[in-house]
Amino acid sequence: MSDFEPRITAFVCNWCTYTGADLAGTSRLHMASNVRLIRLPCTGRIDPLFIIKAFERGADGVIVSGCHPADCHYTSGNYHARRRFAVFHDFLEFIGVDQRRVTFSWVSASEGAKWRDVVDGAVANVRALGPYDEYRALAPEAAEPWPGAIEPEPAVAAGEAS
Ligand code: FES
Repeated sequence: MSDFEPRITAFVCNWCTYTGADLAGTSRLHMASNVRLIRLPCTGRIDPLFIIKAFERGADGVIVSGCHPADCHYTSGNYHARRRFAVFHDFLEFIGVDQRRVTFSWVSASEGAKWRDVVDGAVANVRALGPYDEYRALAPEAAEPWPGAIEPEPAVAAGEAS
């Protein structure tokens, strides 16, 4: 049996899915722990290239989730996102990304159980597909630290600051 544990990046809107995920946690629902959330103000803020970057940086799968249609806190951000991702879907197919690695969903703030189901479903799909080494092999330089990156300052303990 494989010990592969998928790494999944989830881009979620602050107002619905993030709150739904929080509800799943505070309700102590059991779900796969393979998902790392990136909270954004709205799905309308999610640049499709974020998905490509996530794969480049080691994700085996991606989840995009926000407010249900007509519930967007910025009125129409999720409609823009839906249109954008309909076009982006074809692009993903063109560059060879397996669509089963990308999950789109609408999860409201009161749908903790639905978020659990989305997470468990995405993890099961990606686990069956295996690690996404083919994609990372296409962009090996992306795994290297950016040469212009600024190293974070070391933490200063309380009382040491001058
Ligand atoms: Fe949630 Fe726009 S605020 S999708």
